[in-house]
Amino acid sequence: MSSQPEKISKVTINTLGEMKARGEKIACLTAYDVSFAQLLDKAGVDVVLVGDSLGMVIQGLDSTIPVTMDEMIYHGKVVSRGLERALLILDMPFMSDASTQQAVENAGRFMKQCGANMVKLEGSADQRELVETLTRLGIPVCAHLGLQPQRVHKLGGYKVQGRDAASADKMLNDARVLEQAGADLLLLECVPASLAKKITEQANIPVIGIGAGRQTDGQVLVLYDILGISAGHVPKFSKNYMQQVSSIQQAVKQYVDEVKAVKFPADEHTFN
Ligand code: KIV
Repeated sequence: MSSQPEKISKVTINTLGEMKARGEKIACLTAYDVSFAQLLDKAGVDVVLVGDSLGMVIQGLDSTIPVTMDEMIYHGKVVSRGLERALLILDMPFMSDASTQQAVENAGRFMKQCGANMVKLEGSADQRELVETLTRLGIPVCAHLGLQPQRVHKLGGYKVQGRDAASADKMLNDARVLEQAGADLLLLECVPASLAKKITEQANIPVIGIGAGRQTDGQVLVLYDILGISAGHVPKFSKNYMQQVSSIQQAVKQYVDEVKAVKFPADEHTFN
């Protein structure tokens, strides 16, 4: 009997919804090139994000603000070539969604030129119409709430968001409005665990966290942080998995296993 190669089933937005429904955690990591994309895909990472964090970890910039559409397109294309199973999200860089027309053109480039499965934008309830338009055009959206690195100057630094009642209520409302507008995924960055839990319980769509405690539906980290090779400050919410193992493959697999087993993030990676 000839053995057929096992068919890999691609992760879709439906898969992520089903994972939320059955309580299976979603493991997400960033990638910026084809070799790491292949490695992550084989290690069982469910979602690969080409984040504009590439400005900091690839380009040596001190923020994500200068990252351009053409740079995102370049990295999106090469990462896409490495993925068979994982869902691919591309970050809309600063100002690429300044108007609905710009956002439609740029998100369309990600879908057509890079084979993106979803675009991520740093959002709020103000972007309701934009998310409705992208949804109407068949472009899945991940809305990034909490600490929004592209707004670092307006926020006055990289700080935990949603600590007081007014900003917590605003974030709950932003999440509700963007879900109603058609967002398929929420991402919460640097949010107290109790608020992230509330948003996750309120949402019918999956919620991925980074520095948002372990009760979100999944976790995301910057790849180079978990490999211990990011220069400069490593955030409290991250973990260097190379300290436990002897290969990059094992480190990524360990991260996936810990996310699935709800062992990561631990209390030390969490904000209250
Ligand atoms: O740009 C990025 O890598 C991100 C993650 C930190 C969530 O947005």
